[in-house]
Amino acid sequence: MEISKDILYIGVNDHQVDLFEGQYAVPNGMAYNSYLIRDEKTAVMDTVDKNFTHEWLDNLEKALDGRKPDYLIIQHMEPDHSANITAFMRNYPDAVIVASAKAFTMMEHFYGKDYADRRLTVGEGDTLSLGRHTLSFYTAPMVHWPEVLVTYDSADKVLFSADGFGKFGALDVEEDWACEARRYYFGIVGKYGAQVQALLKKASALEIRTVCPLHGPVLRETLGEVLRLYDIWSSYGVESEGIMIAYTSVYGNTKKAVDQLADKLKAKGCPKVVVTDLARDDMAEAVEDAFRYGRLVLATTTYNADIFPPMKEFIHHLTERNFQNRTVAFIENGSWAPLAAKTMKGMLEGCKNLTFAENTVRILSALNSESSEKLEALAEELCMDYLARQDSTANKNDLSALQNIGYGLYVLTSSDGKKPNGMIVNTVAQVASNPNLIAVCINKQNYSHHVVKQTGIMNICCLTVDAPFSVFKNFGFQSGRNADKFAGTEILRADNGLPFLGQYSNAFLSLQVEQYMDVGSHGMFLCRVTEARVLSDRETMSYAYYQANVKPKPETKGKKGYVCKVCGYVYEGEELPEDFVCPLCKHGAADFEPIQ
Ligand code: FEO
Repeated sequence: MEISKDILYIGVNDHQVDLFEGQYAVPNGMAYNSYLIRDEKTAVMDTVDKNFTHEWLDNLEKALDGRKPDYLIIQHMEPDHSANITAFMRNYPDAVIVASAKAFTMMEHFYGKDYADRRLTVGEGDTLSLGRHTLSFYTAPMVHWPEVLVTYDSADKVLFSADGFGKFGALDVEEDWACEARRYYFGIVGKYGAQVQALLKKASALEIRTVCPLHGPVLRETLGEVLRLYDIWSSYGVESEGIMIAYTSVYGNTKKAVDQLADKLKAKGCPKVVVTDLARDDMAEAVEDAFRYGRLVLATTTYNADIFPPMKEFIHHLTERNFQNRTVAFIENGSWAPLAAKTMKGMLEGCKNLTFAENTVRILSALNSESSEKLEALAEELCMDYLARQDSTANKNDLSALQNIGYGLYVLTSSDGKKPNGMIVNTVAQVASNPNLIAVCINKQNYSHHVVKQTGIMNICCLTVDAPFSVFKNFGFQSGRNADKFAGTEILRADNGLPFLGQYSNAFLSLQVEQYMDVGSHGMFLCRVTEARVLSDRETMSYAYYQANVKPKPETKGKKGYVCKVCGYVYEGEELPEDFVCPLCKHGAADFEPIQ
């Protein structure tokens, strides 16, 4: 096979191998690729597996067409590529081996020789001229071993990528590239995402037309797609929409729950549901799918006060490959002391950026009405976005969508002429840049609304992420009509005479009201900027940050009722009156949620 005028394929197909690397099923065999570059000098790129010595040497001899090889370039020392170094060097006593220093150490360990008198050690950025072709070497540690080099030929724009971009399967079998490349990637280099990202960065600086890997086909037309997938895989991104359910089942009851869940997920619009029986299906395929989809359901039984062995093995495969950035849900089955969910969650504890589903399904031996209801709740939770996307199932009047609008948090200061006042607002927005116009909305029930409407001036102080809850309590949970919110503090004043915060604020704007609009519950003030000062470079506090990090967690344990989402006030009672107003922050019933 000709890769270019000067580059020939001399690799072999292996249909005898039972398990690649002693563990991966390869029903379509395996290819061990090797290439010959013919120029003024000739270079052989890697050897092949030990079972193909003569076939490979025959291929080489034919491609050499009477010439002798000058160099044997060893990019990777794993025996599927290095096993024939000795045979080659014996056959071609004038050839020189080109490899990294680490590769030569491994050569001695594997084959008892480091070829000290016939070797050329190369590293990052080194080059080797063959004539028209100049080869540049780049280190690619841990893709897939530490000694790995990849090689770039600038003449024909070819990247010899070692194990990178390889796949399972012999070259004489037609099959989808992505499927077996993904299984190969996550099985073999999945742990080393950061190192693959580093290699992709190096590759992005090169003009590459052809990739010649050590396994799988030579890549040309599909290169863009291949690089896109490698970027997703190595950054642990989600490649495909859908949900994977991985399960084990001893007597079929867990399987029954899994089948029901799969049906529910499909019915709720999940675009793809993949179900894997970990005791029977290919483990590498299961690992590949866990990294392919963004949501994973793990269903298993409690077993020997632990979990069923294939599930344990599966989770171990995931954690050792840096499983991350996904949503995980659990179904556990146990006849007397179910603890599988807790055990599975514990095993995943060290993984980065996992979101655990709120609903965990507990089966006590077999499904009953309670666990079936939980299955429904889990399906609903996992399919929330799929349900919302479909016209037929979407709730088109879900006003909690309003809470997803991003806001900052500010202290608005004013003065009634007797004392300075301040309140917390989130509805501040620049609405024009020429001129700079700021819109500020204030609840009409607030004293500040009354004051600003009369005076026509205010300051907006942008709060920073280090502002403690006491700032919100002081300015937000009491009225300036009766409280002096600046009492006991040294007041800093802007040119308009109103206070600004010297602490917990990164900037303030002095505003002159130009227009007022009654917009129902609130009054909207459209304002011109009269002074603008930056006080620090600390980050502005967002409403979401306040909710997650500043607002104290409400004491709801053992209580029945509703909790205010704004300040955490707890209302105890069966029903929250529709006209209820939070006594702390003055927000209405819409800002309360039931205690779970
Ligand atoms: Fe294809 Fe890492 O050996």
